Amino acid sequence: MEPLLDLTDVNYTYQTAEGETPAVKDLSFRVFPNHFLGIIGPSGCGKSTILSLIAGLIQPNSGKIAVSAEIGYMLQKDHLLDWLSIRDNISLGLRIHHKLTPEKEKWSDKMLEEYGLAPFADARPGQLSGGMRQRAALIRTLALSPRMLLLDEPFSALDYQTRLTVSDDIYRILRSQQMSAILVTHDISEAISFCDRIIVLTKRPASVKKTFDIHLTLDKERTPFEARMAPEFKDYFNEIWGELNV
Ligand SMILES: Nc1ncnc2c1ncn2[C@@H]1O[C@H](COP(=O)(O)OP(=O)(O)OP(=O)(O)O)[C@@H](O)[C@H]1O
Ligand SMILES: [Mg+2]
Repeated sequence: MEPLLDLTDVNYTYQTAEGETPAVKDLSFRVFPNHFLGIIGPSGCGKSTILSLIAGLIQPNSGKIAVSAEIGYMLQKDHLLDWLSIRDNISLGLRIHHKLTPEKEKWSDKMLEEYGLAPFADARPGQLSGGMRQRAALIRTLALSPRMLLLDEPFSALDYQTRLTVSDDIYRILRSQQMSAILVTHDISEAISFCDRIIVLTKRPASVKKTFDIHLTLDKERTPFEARMAPEFKDYFNEIWGELNV
């Protein structure tokens, strides 16, 4: 199978007036269709930089990034605009890209219905709970029909219970649309529950330290919530914890 994303020996150094900060070093990994990749690493090691490189916001100093899919980007903060209604926030990206058609408007209304946001379509973001805002931000990102989603700590602003529910919601939505995802997180349990493969990064500059393929034994269909019940869960947790703390 052809990867949607292929990074080969990527290097990136920030140049500022104060000097150079190497952030990414000889980084290589791939993401395949329908695959969820987790990225875990020490604070400040270069995780967000990796997503910016993939999104094309910055260019590598050396190495190669081959992207063969539309990419959507969801950040830690949802960046909903407070002066627009939820409906207008969702259609904003489409409007900017001149892709707002009556079909897309219908699709947006269906998504709002499906994700329990229909009664809030005309409300402002400030009137919504954290979980509802996150779902609205997801619909806005999905409206542009990406095949791969970059998620940078998307649940970290949410309280624990909402976090579990929203991560289940988002998992189901992405799976049902047969999308791929890269999830950057500090939370080992979240990564194991969500991802098919996890890469643990070194301290800055970020490089792959170890890769874990996640195989869980479950009687029910896999969701992040169900995944936490799998017998292998705590062994993965301990191994990844060990990698992060040596
Ligand atoms: N625009 C910038 N200019 C200069 N240095 C930067 C810039 N952005 C990030 N850095 C530096 O690059 C390094 C990696 O930053 P990055 O944000 O990628 O780390 P991170 O792993 O996402 O951190 P966190 O865990 O806090 O989210 C840090 O040392 C940071 O100070
Ligand atoms: Mg970051």
